[in-house]
Amino acid sequence: MDRKLRVVALVGSLRRESYTLRVLQALMGVAPLSITIEIAPLEFVSLYNQDQDDNPPPAWRALRDQVSGSDGVLFATPEYNRSIPGVLKNAIDVGSRPAGASVWTGKPAAVLSVSPGSLGGFGANHHVRQCLTFLDMPVMQQPEAYLGRVGTVFDADGHITSADTLEFLRRFVNAFDHWIRRFATADSVAITTSRGERHGADSYATQH
Ligand SMILES: Cc1cc2nc3c(=O)[nH]c(=O)nc-3n(C[C@H](O)[C@H](O)[C@H](O)COP(=O)(O)O)c2cc1C
Repeated sequence: MDRKLRVVALVGSLRRESYTLRVLQALMGVAPLSITIEIAPLEFVSLYNQDQDDNPPPAWRALRDQVSGSDGVLFATPEYNRSIPGVLKNAIDVGSRPAGASVWTGKPAAVLSVSPGSLGGFGANHHVRQCLTFLDMPVMQQPEAYLGRVGTVFDADGHITSADTLEFLRRFVNAFDHWIRRFATADSVAITTSRGERHGADSYATQH
């Protein structure tokens, strides 16, 4: 599988000076040329409301289309109260609906968590993974990425100066390239892009 693969990145922080965004940008800078990484504009994705399933807002459609058209999804997140920031959880929920038409099903994924603290956002990382398990996404297991003490790795311009951190990000994104390539098809997009044929949320529907 030689073609360039498309990755969509979801960032769990809307903060202008977000560490998480900066880390993702550094990762994009060391990513192999065999992938492109686009950041989904989550700031426009309004709160999920099932009443809008029949007439979804444009930003919901745009997010769903962006994910559907990708070969893999990279979740980059800080930790809020030992869990997933609402902006990221909301995006996961929006992509998972309407029932039976989840855009996440089968998309290979990886999770990168970031924190100024020493635990590296472990709680957020694993709460994201919990959602992805239910959503039937094959998640890269190794290397794991819990980037702690993130406030110490940037220079005054917000660039990562730590060679070790950059090397870690390079290894992580290279592993992700190999991971998503295992699921990609030769012509266009990995797995299926036709909504309605995928049923990642069916178990929920049948259990409730
Ligand atoms: C509502 C809230 C809850 C937070 N909870 C945690 C937490 O549980 N663990 C942690 O390591 N940091 C926590 N933090 C601190 C964030 O890690 C820190 O603000 C970080 O810079 C946010 O990521 P960002 O720089 O990408 O915006 C919390 C911050 C906020 C605003």
